[in-house]
This record gives sequence, C-alpha cells and structure tokens, in this order.
Amino acid sequence: FPVDRIRNFCIIAHIDHGKSTLADRLLEMTGAIAKTDKNKQVLDKLQVERERGITVKAQTASLFYTHHGQQHLLNLIDTPGHVDFSYEVSRSISACQGVLLLVDANQGIQAQTVANFYLAFEAQLTIIPVINKIDLKNADPERVESQIENVFDIPREDCIRISAKLGTNVENVLQAVVERIPPPTAIVHDPFKALVFDSNFDHYRGIVANIAVFAGHVKKGDKIVSAHLGKAYEVNELGLLCPQEHPTQKLFAGQVGYLIAGMKEVKEAQIGDTLYHQDQPVEALPGFKPAKAMVFAGMYPVDQSEYPGLRSAIERLTLNDSSVTVQRDSSLALGAGWRLGFLGLLHMEVFNQRLEQEYNASVIITAPTVPYKAVLSSAKLIKNRRGIQNNMMYVDDHRVMMKYLFPLNEIVMDFYDLLKSLSSGYASFDYENAGYQAADLIKMDILLNGRPVEELTTIVHRARAYSTGKAICERLKDSIPRQMFEIAVQASIGSKIIARETIKAYRKNVLAKCYGGDITRKMKLLKKQAEGKKKMRRIGNVEVPKDVFINVLKRK
Ligand code: GTP
Repeated sequence: FPVDRIRNFCIIAHIDHGKSTLADRLLEMTGAIAKTDKNKQVLDKLQVERERGITVKAQTASLFYTHHGQQHLLNLIDTPGHVDFSYEVSRSISACQGVLLLVDANQGIQAQTVANFYLAFEAQLTIIPVINKIDLKNADPERVESQIENVFDIPREDCIRISAKLGTNVENVLQAVVERIPPPTAIVHDPFKALVFDSNFDHYRGIVANIAVFAGHVKKGDKIVSAHLGKAYEVNELGLLCPQEHPTQKLFAGQVGYLIAGMKEVKEAQIGDTLYHQDQPVEALPGFKPAKAMVFAGMYPVDQSEYPGLRSAIERLTLNDSSVTVQRDSSLALGAGWRLGFLGLLHMEVFNQRLEQEYNASVIITAPTVPYKAVLSSAKLIKNRRGIQNNMMYVDDHRVMMKYLFPLNEIVMDFYDLLKSLSSGYASFDYENAGYQAADLIKMDILLNGRPVEELTTIVHRARAYSTGKAICERLKDSIPRQMFEIAVQASIGSKIIARETIKAYRKNVLAKCYGGDITRKMKLLKKQAEGKKKMRRIGNVEVPKDVFINVLKRK
C-alpha cells in the first residue's frame, strides 16, 4: 500500500464524550463492520469495559476508505479514556500523525480534553476538533467552538459538528482525516523499526503485540529483537486489524497491525518498546518508560482455601497487564495474600472486577495507599495547606481551569467523587505525577476491641489525624454489624487513643420471625445467613464484612 495513502490517527476525548460511538460509526461507514445495533462499541472488548462504558485497553482497526476515487488505508488507534492510563494514551498518540479531538457539544472542554490535547500538541500532531452530540437539546456548539479557540488557539472554522449517535456529518470526519492529516513519514528502505503501542495475552498464541511500523518492513520468519529486554524472537504471524485480525505476508513502514512472535508475557512486549531486526539494530524510539504503580493495596482470598485459585487468577490477569506489580504479603487478620500496585484507583477497581467476573474470584481488598519516602529527621517543614494553587485560566465566561499541587494521598480515594458531587457533576478532574514532597505525616492505627487491624492502618497528615480518626471510627461503627458482644472501635497514634466508638451487643436470630414449623423455609434462612457469613472476615473475635476495608477510608 503506498505510504502517501495511509493515515494513522486516534480519537482523544474526555470520558463519555462519545469516542466509542464515533469509532463504531467510522467502522460502519467504511464497511469494517455491518450496521446493526449489536455492534455497539465494537472496540470495547472486555466485559468490564462494556459494563462501565469506559475504554481500558486500547484497540485498533484498519479501515479502507475511498476518497476522490483513491483507496486510502486509515488506521484508527483507539486510546483509553481515563487518567490512570495516560501513558498508554501517549504511546498510542506517538503511533499517529493526527488526532480527532472530540468534545461534547453540551459539556464543552473538560479536564481530560485539556490533558489529551497537550499530549497530541507536544507530539506535534495535526489536531482536528470535532464537536459531538449536536443532536442534544442543550447542545451549544457555538460556545464549544469559542472554548476551543480560547484554550487551544485552534480557529473555530476547523471544527466539525457531528452527531456520532445519528451519524450526522461523520462522513466529513473521514474526509478531514484524509485531507488534513499528513501520511506517515515512513522510510520503506531503512532497517525495520516498530513501536509497540499495545499488547494482549492470548492463551493459545502468547502475546499479540499491536505495532506501528516506522521504517522498513517485517515478515513471517524474521528474527526480531525487543529493545527493552534485548531478547530475540521469530515472527510467527502478522497482519492488519480490520478490526478482526487479518493475516498478511508483510507489514510495511507506515502500517499499523499485529504481530505474534512467541512472546509469553506482556512484560516482553511492553507498551512503548521498540522492535527491530536481529541483524540490523536501530536506536530505540524515545519516550519509553516502564509503567509505574502509584496506588498500592492488599488483596486476600475471602477464605484461605481459595488461595491457590486466586493466585493463578492473579498470575493470569497480570500476564495481560504488565503495569500491575505483585508482591506476596501476609497479615494476621487476613492470612496469606498479596500486595498489588496499580496505576490508579480505577485501574485497581477494574482489576478487581475482572478477577471477579473472569475468574469468579472473591477477594478482600484493603484500602489503597500511595508510596511515601520516609526521611528520618526531627525538623520537617510543616505545611498546613495540603493543596497549593499553581495556575488558573478561564476557559470561557462560565468555566475556569485551575491547577493545584496535591498530595496523591488526598486525591486517591474519593477526591474525584467529592468534586463531582460538590459541583453537581460540572467539574472535571485530571492529574499527573509531580514527584515527592516533604510533609508532616504520622501513622494512625485502628483497633477493634483493643486489637490493631493492620489493614486499616493509614498515614495521615498530623493536622488531620483527629478528624480522620473520628470519621473512620464512625464509619466502622456503621458498617460492622452488631454482634453478640460489645465492640470498641478506636483510633490511636502510638499509644494514645484519639477517637472511640462503641458497637452495642446484639444477637441476630434469623429464625425469630419463623413461627410454626416450615422446615424448608428455616433451612433457607439459615443458608442465607451462612452465605452472608462468607462475606465476613473474622478479626480477633469480631466479624467484619469484606468490603469494609476499602469503603471505610472513603469520605462521605
Ligand atoms: P470512554 O470510552 O469511556 O472514553 O467513553 P466514550 O467517550 O467512548 O463514550 P461513549 O461512546 O461510550 O458515549 C458515551 C455516551 O454518550 C453513550 O451513552 C452514547 O450513547 C452517548 N453518545 C455518543 N455520541 C452521541 C451523540 O452524538 N448524541 C447523543 N445524544 N449521545 C451520544
């Protein structure tokens, strides 16, 4: 395929602005998929993605589109929408020459619109602004065009107004892709060089890597090397994604496709890595960084007999996601388990949901923590303001963009939910890592009947210790059911108790309302109670519901 008729592009958008819907329309209009209702969000493959309506793993499709009588190959590279996956977005972007910047005609520019815009802008890509959902009653494309002009300095005439849902003007988007985005500057005669921008684990074939070929070509049987690990492989299969795999003989510079080469783990084909021919080494593409876990949580089987099953489920899931770090761990109350590291809270929730859905595993997750570097010294600077304002910019008369420096610990649990509810859903939020900062932090323990529960131990800012301890005790009181004896819930710093709540004794007799002798009904109630117990965890003599560990640190 002639390089000048190839276009590599992706769609970037704030969550829910309609990226998957637009992708579906583009696939339908180019005949890659049939036009039926069943095709909703073809690129969102995982069950979790469909349920949550968010894109977690990037998917890619090659589309054939005829423009002025000439066939073009358009490679649509799907990107994840959530902040936790911004590194994957940046890698997908570096496989492209242009982006569709999709903005909801009602909501306008949001936090991730801005973050994603800068990723594309810094990579010097052609940016095509697309205003979606113009069919909505409250759509205000005029206002959104002004925002785009103000914030991104893109002329409003460049904007394409569409309804991805109804298909209105989507043809114009395809035309703009061909007319405005330049073809890749690929050099067919140079040694082979490709970027890995995504990879998946397949039980039968091992790793399937999605690659963008930057130079030269690769074919079946070639010996290739992945730059990061320096390991050599033989190419077994390669081809285009249409969006189903479509095997071909070769992949050429400028093309995007998949490649299978006997790699067994995602670690061997990390996102951002470079592939080259074994006998023609090339310099690795810039920007590779191994995924870095920022949020850590303990994971334990509800019942220790489920440990081996859970272990293999975690192993298999991490084969598919090299950004999760796993370390064995054990706790007095919860037994043997693991300490897992994730890119962010959503990443953690998605992982947990996949464990439950795909492997039928039932797990206890402890409240997530973020990494700290401890410095042993008596003087530390005391900062009483935990958020420091950096920058502020007006998007238009109604909206303002504010930049703050925050401790990650303050935003990891519930900041986003809180912000959403305070602003009735209007505010949006995005973050990037700003490095470690000194702070005055102390360790706070939680005790149940005098016994410390290490899973609930947290690191808090000294100025917040008292109020946080009180809030946690109150929430524990609400979420631990009454038992046959009184339970003291306490928060302590060192040996000093700073908060206390009491859960009164109570005996729950499930048969109390069962007059008469219907034995099957009694059995049913007892069985139900036994099932309820399964979701509990015994700490000392106190039964604790398993989701307490994650819920208790969320502020209301
Ligand atoms: P992520 O993959 O999580 O980033 O979300 P997304 O941007 O792909 O959003 P998605 O395509 O799932 O659309 C979000 C919601 O907006 C869905 O309920 C769509 O049906 C709806 N939607 C998308 N496009 C349009 C449109 O043109 N008009 C209207 N009225 N609704 C739309």
